Amino acid sequence: MTAATPEIDLMGEEAIRDPYSAFAPLRSDNPVVWNPQYRSWVITRHRDVSAALRDDRFSSDRIAPFIERKLADPGTDPLIRQAFEVLRHWMVFQDEPSHMRLRSLVRKAFTPRSVQRMQERVAELSTDLLSKISADDEFDLIAEFAYPLPAIVIAEMLGVPPEDRDTFKHWTDEIAPLVSAGLDDPDRYARAAAAMDALIEYFGDLLRRYEAEPADNLISGLIESRDEGDALTQAEVVATCTLLLFGGHETTANLIANSMLALLRHPDQLAALRDGQVDTRLAVEELLRFDGPGKAVVRVMREDTEFGGQLLRKGQRVFLVLAAANHDPEVFDDPDVLRLDRANNTHVAFGFGAHTCLGSALARLEASVAVPILLTGLPGVRLAERPLRWQQVFLTRGLQELWLRADGITP
Ligand code: HEM
Repeated sequence: MTAATPEIDLMGEEAIRDPYSAFAPLRSDNPVVWNPQYRSWVITRHRDVSAALRDDRFSSDRIAPFIERKLADPGTDPLIRQAFEVLRHWMVFQDEPSHMRLRSLVRKAFTPRSVQRMQERVAELSTDLLSKISADDEFDLIAEFAYPLPAIVIAEMLGVPPEDRDTFKHWTDEIAPLVSAGLDDPDRYARAAAAMDALIEYFGDLLRRYEAEPADNLISGLIESRDEGDALTQAEVVATCTLLLFGGHETTANLIANSMLALLRHPDQLAALRDGQVDTRLAVEELLRFDGPGKAVVRVMREDTEFGGQLLRKGQRVFLVLAAANHDPEVFDDPDVLRLDRANNTHVAFGFGAHTCLGSALARLEASVAVPILLTGLPGVRLAERPLRWQQVFLTRGLQELWLRADGITP
């Protein structure tokens, strides 16, 4: 550890409001640094973040010790125990070989074809949600559009009937603290555990339904994977459904909202996208890089490791700050400038290496369909005069609300 370690409060006001400026000094002067307040290493350079994501000494099995402790404690409530059992099966928390086994079985069900097929449906759903916005006054784009859209999309892909959608929103809200920062609040644990219990039972019912009558959806695909050679267990299928549901929802909602915010703050770029002067696919990559929904990912050291001139000890936690890597001037020209036609955009918004986001094609599809529909459908769209409130979390980046005004709706 260096003598004069600069301290950054990862959850401080500045780091929450503008992580790009807040992490810049660390990235240039102390790219691999111990943060005593959070008892973690903080890694900020693009090349280091990419290298760590490919290095299996940086383990993803970061919640196992915590879960084992909870499971070993006889006082742990059975519902909480069950919720942790589900998280234990999430591939994102596993190393090889169990990670790859789960990932390849899920990938079989979650094919590029199954994603591409959703294009028209995403457009239909976007238009439908847009038409329900009451644009006579200010409206919160997150509540009315960005949040429901990905929830409906992933629910439909899984094979969840429309009448159960609202319950899904409730469950994901409740389960969220279990996988984000709020791990120490007993009330939130209990609520998350109850939501997980309901979800497990629900997915159990759906599995039985699609076992009897297979359909063209993700759950049927997972059942097929489960029944082939290196089978998925029932618990793994349920856990994977919850991971897809959770992983695909808030992240994508934040991508849509952060993208709209970035565009509204850069009217020339907004106009270029609206007028078709830039390739939408390039634009989405730049929006992911510029202010993507994933601020950091967590790893834990599997063994003592020399990295970036520091000694990272076995068992120590590491934050790989994707947001800082995505604004690294070593890799991106004018990194703090939004340039929708940026080429060779090697951002790490979806991570990198073995755990690269499995839903990236779906997230890209949703943003590339939804954002242009919003720009065309909301003439004169602008930010309402309200302060922006960011979620007070370190790992992800999203607004609590995004209040807009428009001159009506053009569906
Ligand atoms: C813009 C939206 C999204 C962002 C920014 C995002 C970001 C990420 C990141 C950074 C990781 C790597 C985590 C790590 O290395 O520890 C990841 C993994 C994952 N994501 Fe996403 N994600 C998004 C949308 C989705 C969607 C739509 C789905 C599925 C419906 C999804 C499912 C997953 C899964 C299953 C993993 C685990 C992959 C593995 O461990 O092998 N994500 N995501």
